[in-house]
Amino acid sequence: MHPSPIVIDGPAGAGKSTVARRLAERLGGTYLDTGAMYRAFTLRALRQGVDLQDPRALTRVVAEGELQLVPDAGGLQVRLDGEDVTAAIRTPEVTRAIHFIAGCAEVRELLVEEQRRLAEVLPPPVVAEGRDLGSIVFPAARVKVYLDASVEVRARRRLAELGPDAPSLEELEREIALRDERDRSRGVAPLVRVPDATCIDSTALGPEAVLEALQHLVEQA
Ligand code: DC
Repeated sequence: MHPSPIVIDGPAGAGKSTVARRLAERLGGTYLDTGAMYRAFTLRALRQGVDLQDPRALTRVVAEGELQLVPDAGGLQVRLDGEDVTAAIRTPEVTRAIHFIAGCAEVRELLVEEQRRLAEVLPPPVVAEGRDLGSIVFPAARVKVYLDASVEVRARRRLAELGPDAPSLEELEREIALRDERDRSRGVAPLVRVPDATCIDSTALGPEAVLEALQHLVEQA
């Protein structure tokens, strides 16, 4: 029996990271960013130059890599084979290549196992964010949330985060729509809204309002 974390699933840019991190802080628990795991191993695969279409090669990249998620003042430091890769896993190159790792069933099996292990050992309550947490990783989670927002608003938020080299809003919208499509249509663990998840649409809500709604759900559970 897995412990029962609070899980937040949803598409890219809906604001999951911000609210999951802040909710964990408010509750005195631990924030678990499962996307960072897929990102870190994508970076490892790119650096090793392995064939991204070869499930055996990808599985080796994951099995032989050493990943640590270390809570720090800014949120979470991601360490891969002893190196701080917190910034390196957020580059467009990694984001563009992530669907290979995310679409590989063997890799997902390893990462799901690790996520369940982490939920047992990290200081509770664990607030985890991802795509398949309510559906596959923690089907018995005590609080399940599906956080959504329109493509346009998600692209605008992304634009505000990026520096002067940011692509145009239209380009960001296209990238986000493509990632949505890949996350929703992949054969293994696609992004879905499970029937027992509470849907929060953050299109017109700031992080504070979403946080209030989440806290209310946690108190009710
Ligand atoms: O949340 P994020 O944008 O950092 O996630 C990066 C990618 O990782 C996302 O496009 C899909 C994948 N992912 C996944 O397949 N399953 C998860 N639980 C978390 C992320």
